[in-house]
Amino acid sequence: MCGIVAYLGHKPAWPILIKGLQRLEYRGYDSAGIALMHQNRLQVLKKKGKVDDLARAAQNYPTDGSQGIGHTRWATHGPPDDINAHPHTSGNQRLALVHNGIIENYALLKKALEKEGHVFQGQTDTEVLVHFIEELQHREQWPLEEAVRVALTRITGAYAIVVMDRDDPGKLVAARKASPLVIGVGNGEYFIASDATPIVEHTKRVIYLNDGEIATVSLRDNLQIRTMNNEVQTPYIHELDMEIEQLEKGGYEHFMLKEIYEQPTTVADCMRGRLNVEQGWVRLGGLDDHLARVAQARRIIIAACGTSWHAGLIGEYLIEDLARIPVEVEYASELRYRNPILNEEDVVIAISQSGETADTLAAVELARERGSLVYGIVNVVGSSIARLTHCGSYIHCGPEIGVASTKAFTGQVTLLSLMALVLAHRRGVLAESDFRRLLLELSEIPGKIAQVLEANAQIAYIAGEIKDRTNAIYLGRGYNFPVALEGALKLKEISYIHAEGYPAAEMKHGPIALIDENMPVIVIATNKSAYDKIVSNIQEVKARKGMVIAVVEQGDEVISQLADYTIEIPPTEEPFTPLLSVIPLQLLSYHIAVMRDCNVDQPRNLAKSVTVE
Ligand code: AGP
Ligand code: GLU
Repeated sequence: MCGIVAYLGHKPAWPILIKGLQRLEYRGYDSAGIALMHQNRLQVLKKKGKVDDLARAAQNYPTDGSQGIGHTRWATHGPPDDINAHPHTSGNQRLALVHNGIIENYALLKKALEKEGHVFQGQTDTEVLVHFIEELQHREQWPLEEAVRVALTRITGAYAIVVMDRDDPGKLVAARKASPLVIGVGNGEYFIASDATPIVEHTKRVIYLNDGEIATVSLRDNLQIRTMNNEVQTPYIHELDMEIEQLEKGGYEHFMLKEIYEQPTTVADCMRGRLNVEQGWVRLGGLDDHLARVAQARRIIIAACGTSWHAGLIGEYLIEDLARIPVEVEYASELRYRNPILNEEDVVIAISQSGETADTLAAVELARERGSLVYGIVNVVGSSIARLTHCGSYIHCGPEIGVASTKAFTGQVTLLSLMALVLAHRRGVLAESDFRRLLLELSEIPGKIAQVLEANAQIAYIAGEIKDRTNAIYLGRGYNFPVALEGALKLKEISYIHAEGYPAAEMKHGPIALIDENMPVIVIATNKSAYDKIVSNIQEVKARKGMVIAVVEQGDEVISQLADYTIEIPPTEEPFTPLLSVIPLQLLSYHIAVMRDCNVDQPRNLAKSVTVE
């Protein structure tokens, strides 16, 4: 959600910032802007729309300077327009500021500042913050970093900010609370960004700013990090494990398609070093030190949002089925606000691709306060959730740029499969022969995903048949019920077709009323258990003239007679079918969205990581 990029050094800042904003586009935004500092002048260019629109609009203006801040805005306060776009400047035009997040007490502050004579141009909470810093700076004659620090002690909300001062060039001040910021340390130059993607092509040396920290980067002095209470912190420089190629489309038309096709590799990467079929073991390094506690947990609560929540539902099936530990899956946004019963006997698993989702982060904090052990399943290395959890495992999928999550979902399900097997083995609830059979089968999943991808052309054809429908229903049972939810979400997000996922047997309790010749029904019918019941569900749809697209196991003869279209996936053990059955649904949504001319990688209104509530 929204992005920040800033540069301080000796190179021209404009191209670095524009490229940086393009790298951040995947997060979702509605306007973009850059402020540059050159010869003690501040130049602000900002625009509603895309970063390309900003670059085009800037052609008639000077873009000199080797210091600047850039922003992609995802509006929370005030409509997306040129005025509300960031950077915002102080009334005296001395300060420029970019902000991600929400200043909750902005209305009161605004009133007080208006009384002091401040005049506001737009409606954002951000503009209030920059005026507030100006007011303190002016009143107390403080240097920028002190004015920022004191201002932040008086505001509530979530933020990542970067500020610069026309009268104090060669310096950037950055701070964060509940919204990420990474500082890249180059050779006599600094980069600051919401995540590492705009930084990696310049330097691999980064510092992750912690919550409640303020950093001052300066060309004259060393980098300084302080807490809100003014205590000096020692920065720790990490080495980024990310290659620039991972951020490019690599010949694919869209990131989403590239990421769908990466899954044979990413699932294998997720398992690498964690499973050995010949020797019959599976292990998760992040779980080693806490294995006894997790294996004896009274129950496991999985907290997540969106696609990660769907992966969590599959985790519930896996852990209960294989390891026999009770599991509950909660929307993180609900868990955090409903005073749940959580204590030290519980284990909470937080699942998040970005590691920055505000609700999931808050659920982690709550679980920690209640004494539960918190385990993170995260993709982005060094992200807030990865750092706040007691322990955890990365899914190692590499950067996921498409807003619609694909490879992170299969990574999360793979990780949960490994975890269920580790716990099952430890608890001794799975016969050794079953354990070994499942290990072998899991290790073969990457090759089988590659086989499913071969159906791409057929799936594109089916997409053409349903691209003009306005609704769709997805049905699945057992392990594949969450896949139905995920298939429906993928279709909604990127093609804007209304879609619902249901457990197949629930259909007759309501949704069946919707079925007629205009309703495509996508059925995941790969379960060996309850196969006959799925066949009956398909009959029920056909009897009402619905169009059935069925995902079936290779060689299925019964359903292929009944369905209008069938897509085959290779046979596998039932617990691992979601890793295969979700692939055709990802491709189906992708092709439908392309045919409907939708912006596949950056769907309207959506943000990649939802860092506000
Ligand atoms: C997935 O396609 C969505 N864009 C969204 O539901 C996403 O899964 C959700 O916002 C959670 O994000 P996270 O995994 O980064 O926490
Ligand atoms: N709340 C601010 C605004 O509406 C910042 C939004 C963002 O994070 O992009 O402008």
